[in-house]
Amino acid sequence: MIMTDKQLAFIRKKTDFVPDVAIVLGSGLGALADEIETECIIDYGEIPDFPVSTAPGHAGRFVFGKIGNKKVAVMQGRVHLYEGYTPQQVVNPIRLLKKAGANILFLTNAAGGINSDFHIGDLMVLSDHISSFVESPLVGKNDDALGVRFPDMSQVYSKRLNKIIFETAEKENTKVKSGVYLQFRGPNFETPAEIRMAKMMGADAVGMSTAIEAQAAKHCGFEVCAVSVISNLACGISKTPITSEEVNETADRIAPVFKNLIKKAIGNF
Ligand code: HPA
Repeated sequence: MIMTDKQLAFIRKKTDFVPDVAIVLGSGLGALADEIETECIIDYGEIPDFPVSTAPGHAGRFVFGKIGNKKVAVMQGRVHLYEGYTPQQVVNPIRLLKKAGANILFLTNAAGGINSDFHIGDLMVLSDHISSFVESPLVGKNDDALGVRFPDMSQVYSKRLNKIIFETAEKENTKVKSGVYLQFRGPNFETPAEIRMAKMMGADAVGMSTAIEAQAAKHCGFEVCAVSVISNLACGISKTPITSEEVNETADRIAPVFKNLIKKAIGNF
């Protein structure tokens, strides 16, 4: 049996909840889960063969329930390549959420700002990404039931969803920027030379997640959007060394604004 089918069967024993929107909450951003009228919580550790998050600020559980009029499946925490998981393991939850019925995927993360117009605490809607520094999760035998062998990536992030996020942000008086996210493998932060390279390549922000999840999501037919919290300025742009404490502190500080934007935007999806 395909692993995600076994995992879905496990979830279906606990709940028959079918989400419309799947949401992945990044480092320190788990507080959105407080906004959910909860139906069911499942710890990743309970699900057969499911990758379990070890990163700080990642609770490691699915929260199924409603945010306003939308049925959501929220991942409070994700797994990363730097934890030693393969690209296929990292995107396992994305494929499972598609099988569980979700059609929209909202990814979030904390990222280092490269664009000189960005400030700590800004929100960036992803217009595109660069994933070329990490292996594609689509490497290996293609599951034709999931998607095509050579999926198009000309518009990974949905223009429709991004427009809704921008319109919602304007109504809520929340400033949002737009930009290209580059995924590195981590777990070390980058060197100044790597950030100069990323900037030359057209990246506005860097992080250690999201792009491969978006790739797998596009492959299996999700409508995708993503928002980064600029938790720090990237190495060499920042005058001080980067710490995970700084990343989580900014995420905590921005959480109320971020939570409100996501909640309201989802209502308009
Ligand atoms: N680099 C990589 N990943 C990150 C950063 C960064 O500066 N900030 C938050 N995640």
